[in-house]
Amino acid sequence: MERDKMNEHAQTMLEAKDVVFRYSETGSNAIDGLSMQVKKGEYVAVLGANGCGKSTLAKHFNAILLPASGTVWIEEIPTTDEDRLMEMRQKVGMVFQNPDNQIVATVVEEDVAFALENLGVPRDEMRCRVDDAMQMAGIYKYREKAPHKLSGGQKQRVAIAGVIAMRPDCLVLDEATAMLDPIGREKVMHTVHKLNRDYGITVVQITHYMEEAATADRVVVMSAGRIVMEGTPRQVFSQVEAVKALHLDVPQSAELCHALTQAGLPMPDDVIRPEECAAAIYKTLTGKEPPRDV
Ligand SMILES: Nc1ncnc2c1ncn2[C@@H]1O[C@H](COP(=O)(O)OP(=O)(O)OP(=O)(O)O)[C@@H](O)[C@H]1O
Ligand SMILES: [Mg+2]
Repeated sequence: MERDKMNEHAQTMLEAKDVVFRYSETGSNAIDGLSMQVKKGEYVAVLGANGCGKSTLAKHFNAILLPASGTVWIEEIPTTDEDRLMEMRQKVGMVFQNPDNQIVATVVEEDVAFALENLGVPRDEMRCRVDDAMQMAGIYKYREKAPHKLSGGQKQRVAIAGVIAMRPDCLVLDEATAMLDPIGREKVMHTVHKLNRDYGITVVQITHYMEEAATADRVVVMSAGRIVMEGTPRQVFSQVEAVKALHLDVPQSAELCHALTQAGLPMPDDVIRPEECAAAIYKTLTGKEPPRDV
């Protein structure tokens, strides 16, 4: 063990300490002295404007990228430990933005089994894991379908099932809902929350949608390769001006979340779509059913 942190590591899923990363010698730092921890079982949302380093950070969390300086640990394993690369990749599953790039097979259940087959998992165990994963991701009924016939949200849940079949401890989702329609997004969010709540899977969700971040245990806001704000959704979104100054994509959502706080409403667990936030605020403030356009 490199550090005297046994107890702390027992609770920590991911840790980045003083991480610096740049893509080329001449370029600026994509990650610029960033430190953060993710506890086991936690649901952390990462917000930040385009190009602030979110995807670069995500790739450090499953050893796709290694820091130029500083350290990233997956549980107690420093990501520079090449001998344990497979173990690290199994512990932290990644889901990316474009479902089409993540689907490789022509039948859903074969796609979900793909990584396990490559690992040489025995047939019976594979069957069991694939069925479990499809159930957990809510796509069991599509198991014999062709992935290209599914909607974006369904495909993304196939990708999630493929990752879950590896029995990971942690999911890192890099804007996994960005290309989906509102219903697809809601289903994916529901699935990810269920995996966190019912199966204890740690979640790091990178998103541009503040209303998604509002459903996390903790929100981390990045800017220029660093963490600039951190706290519960309520703590972060109540600082509307500060959030707006970071030029996030959806300032109107910050206003909604602010309004939710002002209205004394709990931060939404089950309210995911901005339309629902707006309607809930209207109803609380006025006591009336919202008109159509709220
Ligand atoms: N492969 C690469 N080669 C060179 N520079 C890169 C590469 N990938 C990202 N960058 C640069 O590193 C910085 C951080 O990029 P990153 O993709 O991590 O940001 P991001 O927060 O994920 O952005 P987005 O919201 O657009 O997905 C940006 O300045 C980006 O231009
Ligand atoms: Mg990105």
